[in-house]
Amino acid sequence: MDPQHPSYLTGNHAIDVQHARIYRLLEALNVALEGGQGLPEAKRILAALSLFVVAHFRMEEAVMEQAGCPDLERHRVDHADIACRVESMVDAFREGCLRPEALAAFMSDWVDRHIEAYDNPMARFLAGQGAATPAAGPDRPRATRDLAAP
Ligand SMILES: [Fe+2]
Ligand SMILES: [Fe+2]
Repeated sequence: MDPQHPSYLTGNHAIDVQHARIYRLLEALNVALEGGQGLPEAKRILAALSLFVVAHFRMEEAVMEQAGCPDLERHRVDHADIACRVESMVDAFREGCLRPEALAAFMSDWVDRHIEAYDNPMARFLAGQGAATPAAGPDRPRATRDLAAP
């Protein structure tokens, strides 16, 4: 997966920066799960990934709320569903009840599916509101700038 591929870019700079970080954590997780760095490293990355994903969801929801995004509630429900499933998959993996390949596939699948089905439509709405941020330009919306740093 390439986070710079057009299908993964929403056009909102702050959101794209966070997505790129999620993809980097997923790549590191895959390397660790494939045996390169072992189980302790995989568990460390999973803990960081779980925390960052929740922070990312909060940031997106704040941006959508401020922009008056009409799909906010549906989007929020998918975030909550993902957060629950990530938590239970990570718990199962920690307890040795889930194969590493199944965990890696689940993690990659939800990111791709959610960005395509929810984040890209959200980004199109934000772009229509003038909230697309191609770079750290002077007209970046305040909420987006404030929430950009993970
Ligand atoms: Fe997202
Ligand atoms: Fe989202």
